[in-house]
Amino acid sequence: MNILILGSGGRESAFAWKVAQSAHCEKLFIAPGNAGTTQYGTNVNIKVTDFEGIKALVLKEDINLVLVGPEEPLVKGVHDFFLADEQLKNIPVVGPQQEGAQLEGSKDFSKQFMEKHNIPTAAYRTFTKDTLQDGLTYLVTAGLPVVLKADGLAAGKGVLICLTLEEAQTELTAMLADAKFGEASSRVVVEQFLTGIELSVFVMTDGNSYKILPEAKDYKRIGEGDTGLNTGGMGSISPVPFADAAYMKKVEERVIIPTIEGLKKDGIPYKGFIFIGLMNSNGEPWVIEYNCRMGDPETESVMRRIDSDFVDLLLGVAEGNLNEKEIIISPKTAATVVMVAGGYPGEYLKNKVITGTENVRDSIVFHAGTAMDGNDVITTGGRVLAITTVQDDMFSALQQATADASRIYYDGMYFRKDIGFDLL
Ligand code: AMP
Ligand code: GLY
Repeated sequence: MNILILGSGGRESAFAWKVAQSAHCEKLFIAPGNAGTTQYGTNVNIKVTDFEGIKALVLKEDINLVLVGPEEPLVKGVHDFFLADEQLKNIPVVGPQQEGAQLEGSKDFSKQFMEKHNIPTAAYRTFTKDTLQDGLTYLVTAGLPVVLKADGLAAGKGVLICLTLEEAQTELTAMLADAKFGEASSRVVVEQFLTGIELSVFVMTDGNSYKILPEAKDYKRIGEGDTGLNTGGMGSISPVPFADAAYMKKVEERVIIPTIEGLKKDGIPYKGFIFIGLMNSNGEPWVIEYNCRMGDPETESVMRRIDSDFVDLLLGVAEGNLNEKEIIISPKTAATVVMVAGGYPGEYLKNKVITGTENVRDSIVFHAGTAMDGNDVITTGGRVLAITTVQDDMFSALQQATADASRIYYDGMYFRKDIGFDLL
């Protein structure tokens, strides 16, 4: 069969690597892809939100399955677009329809969903411009720190952790009255701050049954020792030692099953991934957020620990027989070190020539923000490359990924040398 992956980051590179190995895959297309995805398939320069462009490609190349990488096309309804189109409606899309994508697209929706289905999450209230005064009053008794979240998608920037009442009141006003995050902050969730260690849990579902993929830990801060500004993610590791069988059983019983059952009870169709961002507080899982897609850079580590045919699992999602499929997970450790552009996550350098990837010894170099410039591979994004290795033990994996990252060079390059070492 012919498969189309939508997206252009490290996540989509890892999907492409894995999908290309499947016995089911004849031709693979990636739209728009990056300089690295051409190793696995054909790039087509179409934006992930250009639904008419995607339609034309799907019909021209006789695509039989579409795997959606990022949240934006899902929240904008790419799956619904397929279902509503006579020529596309029988071509399966892996990724939820708009309603299910609200789990990520609206923080208020996801909080209401969790509350309704008794899924452990931080206490919260939602405010709008009209209820700003109530919000300012609520903050007085809410306790500190307090978390303010723009309801809608805000490119990962819509969450503020406020340490003082004054800061919280100023920010809430900026979000609601001055549209700090545009339309995304026309509603704001004010939430209790949770302490602990974060964990990314991934579930694949056909809307009825589910499979739990390898869990991962993501490192969000730019600086070593988890300091400095938030980024899209500077590295990941899988498995995560504290997420042992007993812990994952709690997660399954308290979070995963109620989530899948909740979607069913609410009549929300869902075929795709659910990424559950958890806070582990003293051994208890609390949901921080849902995403309607896989994580980046977690997917790079997760794909490398799946030993079974990934397209077979995607077909299980598409055809509604996921329960008949088998997932084989490697007991080894996968580690990913993300190499970023100088200046990232602020203004960053672009169009720098990348050298040294041929010196990498025992990792896969997944591309993210890269493009071809003649025969050169150049940097185009903030997150440039994701260096992923799999080793028998965690220490070797961390060491190998870090060592392999240091074999690559471009002007301004930076990566964290401490990814995963906190877990040893
Ligand atoms: P989100 O966009 O919801 O994933 O939030 C971004 C980041 O903010 C999360 O990955 C956490 O590190 C942090 N965060 C969000 N909500 C909370 C919370 N209730 N308590 C503590 N940290 C939080
Ligand atoms: N790594 C976090 C995310 O993909 O949102």
